[in-house]
Amino acid sequence: MKPLLTPSILAADFANLERDINAAERVGADYFHLDIMDGHFVPNISFGPWVAKLMRKITDRPLDAHLMITNPREYIPEFIEAGVELIYPHIEASYDIYRTVQMITDHGARAGITLNPATPISSVEGVIDLIDAVLVMSVCPGFGGKKFIPSSMDRITKLRELLDSLKPSIRIAVDGGVTLENIGNLRKAGADFFIAGSAVFEAPDIEERVRAMKKAMK
Ligand code: DX5
Ligand code: ZN
Repeated sequence: MKPLLTPSILAADFANLERDINAAERVGADYFHLDIMDGHFVPNISFGPWVAKLMRKITDRPLDAHLMITNPREYIPEFIEAGVELIYPHIEASYDIYRTVQMITDHGARAGITLNPATPISSVEGVIDLIDAVLVMSVCPGFGGKKFIPSSMDRITKLRELLDSLKPSIRIAVDGGVTLENIGNLRKAGADFFIAGSAVFEAPDIEERVRAMKKAMK
């Protein structure tokens, strides 16, 4: 599977969002990642579907939404209408994750599932038939700029083995503390989507950093 660099706009300069997105896109950002936080499931509040609509005006690249929210089913249709094509609810957030994932596919989007750092990787088995991707959190969710949790590397290797035995087409996304330094090893461990906020948008030169990260993840 082709590795895909997915900048998280959480770390972009919102006063110059279009400039930052265009810079990343120009040199090959493959996707853009929207971090949705409700101040309840995580101790931070970010933005809602209106930012997805805004992003649809400034880039043609596909969008994913990482739902760090307690009631994902209340918002999924709106994100899909806004143009998000891949949605990652958290397995820990929803009392009925199967129904949540089903809602995503019923509305015509692709579904992923997100696992917090302490959630067993085997918990993906219950939704395996409906998902296209598993997002492995490599920091505790809620904020950008946190340090990568080293055991995440091993979790990705084990998850890849598990997925190969269950449904090899499922992609692995890694989110949190992804940098130019660790992206190559994350690729070797089996990750396919590299979600990176501060490493991309807080770089001295966004274009140069995107180019370097794309090269390092190959
Ligand atoms: C954290 C978010 C991440 C975050 C990544 O809760 O899910 O997507 O934006 O930021 P960095 O790359 O700075 O760790
Ligand atoms: Zn995220």
